[in-house]
Amino acid sequence: MIFTVAVDGPAAAGKGTIGRALADRFGLAHLDTGLLYRAVGARGGDPVVAAQSLTPADLARDDLRTLAAGEAASRVAAIPAVRAALTRFQREFARRDGGAVLDGRDIGTVICPEAEVKLFVTASPEVRAHRRWLEVGGDQEQVLAEVRARDLRDTSRADAPLKAAGDAVTLDTTMLSIDDAVQRAADLVRARLARARARP
Ligand code: C5P
Repeated sequence: MIFTVAVDGPAAAGKGTIGRALADRFGLAHLDTGLLYRAVGARGGDPVVAAQSLTPADLARDDLRTLAAGEAASRVAAIPAVRAALTRFQREFARRDGGAVLDGRDIGTVICPEAEVKLFVTASPEVRAHRRWLEVGGDQEQVLAEVRARDLRDTSRADAPLKAAGDAVTLDTTMLSIDDAVQRAADLVRARLARARARP
């Protein structure tokens, strides 16, 4: 069965948590596509060469979750040749047999416009910055400034900017607990999965 769940949205909106929970609940493979861009940014040197030669070891680095790695990721993610080098792997993952959940910025718009489920997970910048600050600490105002800077870069780049697909379902987690958000997403996936399984 081919079945793709695309989970897109800005930084710290809850896409990773929702994506992992959906994959666990429905037995689907999961890919955090942000990790690919983080690994390219962290490698240093020519980002296009890094994107063309990423290895599992690059993805296993323990410094990919820092604010600095997120910042570097969003810089290299604006380079079209970097995005192109990572496209095929993501497309194949999305359409692998057994179904997959991918979270990122352009899964429903560019990587897999044919995804059976498209979610756009968002929240106010203040709430997202607060969540990020709880994880990484430091100065709250600075974390908010970095969230806003990353939003601006991700939404304004020319190639595959962050935006909701026309047929995506938006989940605004500003006032929603993560459990409620997962529940709503799971209800949608369950319904579409039943339809996909009934396909001849
Ligand atoms: O989701 P995460 O914060 O790990 O993503 C890091 C950066 O990688 C994002 O700010 C974005 O610029 C880039 N990215 C992207 N397309 C994706 C996933 C991440 O451009 N599908």
